[in-house]
Amino acid sequence: MKVIDQAERLRELAAEKRRDSVEIITVTSGKGGVGKSNISVNLGIALALSGRRVLVLDADLGLSNVNIIAGVVPPPKYNLFHVIKGEKSLEEVVAEGPCGIKIITGAIGINTLANLSPKKRDELILGLSAIPHIADLVIIDTSAGLSGKVLSFVFAANKVLLVTTPEPTAITDAYGIIKAISFRTKDLDIKLIVNRARSIEEGEKVANRIADIAGQFLGMKIDKLGVLLDDPSVGEAVREQKPFFISYPRAKATKCIYHLRNLLENIPEEPQGINEFIKRLFHFNGNHLEFAED
Ligand SMILES: Nc1ncnc2c1ncn2[C@@H]1O[C@H](COP(=O)(O)OP(=O)(O)OP(=O)(O)O)[C@@H](O)[C@H]1O
Ligand SMILES: [Mg+2]
Repeated sequence: MKVIDQAERLRELAAEKRRDSVEIITVTSGKGGVGKSNISVNLGIALALSGRRVLVLDADLGLSNVNIIAGVVPPPKYNLFHVIKGEKSLEEVVAEGPCGIKIITGAIGINTLANLSPKKRDELILGLSAIPHIADLVIIDTSAGLSGKVLSFVFAANKVLLVTTPEPTAITDAYGIIKAISFRTKDLDIKLIVNRARSIEEGEKVANRIADIAGQFLGMKIDKLGVLLDDPSVGEAVREQKPFFISYPRAKATKCIYHLRNLLENIPEEPQGINEFIKRLFHFNGNHLEFAED
């Protein structure tokens, strides 16, 4: 092969790899109602404004509400379930959100995948493998708690944003998630966001305390990402069914989202191939796709 051909081929391969790469950020919490969905949507919009192609995947089947927070009403007619049934392609179930973010709502609970027929599993894998066509950053908004479904999304991610509030119950439950993760791996990139703090100092103190305890008792290195202040604009915007980042550009909460975005952008990205994500989401065992948890 001529040197010039080889260089060309290498360039093509690098471009292919880039096209196939995607960064997965899973947003989770121990306690419910601490702000995961609001953070997923508003941070997603902020990241889209700095040029990322963002997909917010609502992995909370029971209480799916990302579309409401994003202002996509009425809710999209189709979701991942239609992909699994082979009725729609991934592109067809994607809804357009504000500022160019894409949304897939009410994704089927991963624990029900255990019962899927091989054909449906293949449809899902095929669907997920199309993600790089629509996004280079996927933000997965999970439900709270320790279910296998949530943990599958946690372990498949490049980065986990663990949300808590300063309330002792939320802190205890956040620690519970870190503990559950620590049984399986010490290597996951977990970043803490303290939401609804009354001051930046209060939020940072909470984050430092959790990080210290996780390091001391679980040997887990947890980083603090930052703080989202308690702000009535958040509740107002939810009631108005519009993201606060758009409705209230001068609000404290919006400034915090900008700051969180900048902090995230300063962390070197380590996108993975989409196949890597799919493999992590499930466990492959020979030709069989085995369910990762439960
Ligand atoms: N920074 C904030 N300031 C004031 N209120 C907030 C803030 N963040 C969240 N809230 C309030 O908390 C409510 C719950 O937020 P959100 O739905 O984002 O939580 P969640 O963690 O996704 O909940 P779930 O566990 O039920 O999915 C919001 O509707 C809003 O009223
Ligand atoms: Mg939620």
